[in-house]
Amino acid sequence: MPQDYKSIPPAVPVTHIAQRADVPAAALAAKIEAYPCFMESLLTIRNLRVEFPDGEHRKVRALNGVNLRIIPGEALGLLGESGCGKSTLAKSVLRLLPAGAKTTGGRIEWEGRDLLALSEQEMQQIRGARISLIPQDPGLALNPFMKIGKQVAEVLRAHRQWKWSRCCEEAESLLQVVRLENSDRRMFDAYPHQLSGGQQQRVVIAQAISCQPGLLIADEPTASLDAATEEEILRLLGEMKERQKLALLFITHDPKILTDLADRIAVMYAGRIVEEQCAKNVLKAPLHPYAQALLACVPPERGEGRLARGQRLFTIPGNGPDPAAIPRGCSFAPRCSSRLEVCEQEVPQPKETAEKGFVECFLYDQ
Ligand SMILES: Nc1ncnc2c1ncn2[C@@H]1O[C@H](COP(=O)(O)OP(=O)(O)OP(=O)(O)O)[C@@H](O)[C@H]1O
Ligand code: SF4
Ligand SMILES: [Mg+2]
Repeated sequence: MPQDYKSIPPAVPVTHIAQRADVPAAALAAKIEAYPCFMESLLTIRNLRVEFPDGEHRKVRALNGVNLRIIPGEALGLLGESGCGKSTLAKSVLRLLPAGAKTTGGRIEWEGRDLLALSEQEMQQIRGARISLIPQDPGLALNPFMKIGKQVAEVLRAHRQWKWSRCCEEAESLLQVVRLENSDRRMFDAYPHQLSGGQQQRVVIAQAISCQPGLLIADEPTASLDAATEEEILRLLGEMKERQKLALLFITHDPKILTDLADRIAVMYAGRIVEEQCAKNVLKAPLHPYAQALLACVPPERGEGRLARGQRLFTIPGNGPDPAAIPRGCSFAPRCSSRLEVCEQEVPQPKETAEKGFVECFLYDQ
C-alpha cells in the first residue's frame, strides 16, 4: 500500500515498543524476529535538503529530499555512485557540514529530538558519544603531531568525567580491542605517520567506539585499503557492532562489500534515497531501475556468472545529473530504459514495499 514516508511515527526508544498499546506484543515480537525492519527507528531522516554554493551563483543541491531510517543494532548499507551525496548525508547527521553549506529543509530525529534544532552545546554531547563518524579519509582525521593513544584518550576526556590517567588506561584497552599491538605502549606512543593506512583506520575506529555510541557512521572506511586489510577492517566493524550492540551506517559505492555486512540497504541517487529494503532483497532482486543497473555493473565472481571471452561488463549509460542543474521529474530518467512519460514531469514519491522498505519509482505506482 502506498505510504508517504512522513507518516512513519517519530522515533521512540526500542525498549518502549513492547509497551505500545496499539501493537499486540506477541505479533510484533514475531515480526521483529522474522524481519528486523519492523522495529522502530533509532534515527529518522525526513525530507532532508542541503545545498552548497558553487562559486557561480548556482546552488549545488547535494541532498534533495532524503528519507531514511536506521534501526537499533542494525547495519544499514548506504550505496551509491560518487557524488550522489553520501558523505554530505553523514556530515549532516553530525552537523559537521563545511562552511557555506546550507540545510534548507527537513528533520533528523534522534531519540525523539530533531538534531537540527539542538544548540551547538547539546550537539557536542551527542557527537562522538551517542553518534560517531569514521570519516572518508582516516589520515586527515588524526592529528599528525599527537601520539595516537592520547588521541583516543582525548575523546574519552571530552565525554566522560574521568581523570586523564583513567582515559589513557581505557585508550590502551581500546587499542587492543581494535587489535593494534600494544606491547610496551609502543602503539600508544606512535604518531600517525608511523602507522599504515589499515592501522590508522583502526585508531579512528577505536576513537569512534570509545564512548559506546548508539550509532556509528562509517564513510567508505576501506576505500583506500588493499583487499586483505579491507576484509580485516570489515570483520572488525562487524564484531564491534555485535559486541557493543551499536547500529552501523556503512557508506560505500561497492555492493559486494555489503553482502555479508548489511542487514538493510539504502540506495542513493542524486541526493535522494531511491530504494530502501532488506539487504537480501536489494542484492538479489532490486526494484529501482538504478539499483538494478548498479548491481548489473558488479563483476561476476568466479564460476557460473563469469564473463565470456570478449563479453564486456555492463556500465550504466550516461552520467549522474549535475547537482547544480537537477532535471525536472525523476533524476534518473535520462539514463533509465524503463522511463514513462510521467517520469520527466514529476518526482516519484516513496512507495512502501514488503518488509517496510520503500522504492521511489513510477513503475510501482499501480
Ligand atoms: N564543500 C563543498 N562545496 C561545494 N560542493 C560540494 C562540497 N562538498 C560536496 N559538494 C558536492 O555535493 C555533491 C555530493 O558530494 P558528496 O561528497 O556528499 O558525495 P559522495 O556520494 O560522498 O561522493 P564520493 O563517493 O566521491 O565520496 C557533489 O556534487 C559534490 O561536488
Ligand atoms: S521513475 Fe521512471 S525514470 Fe525514474 S527510475 Fe522509475 S521508471 Fe525510471
Ligand atoms: Mg563521500
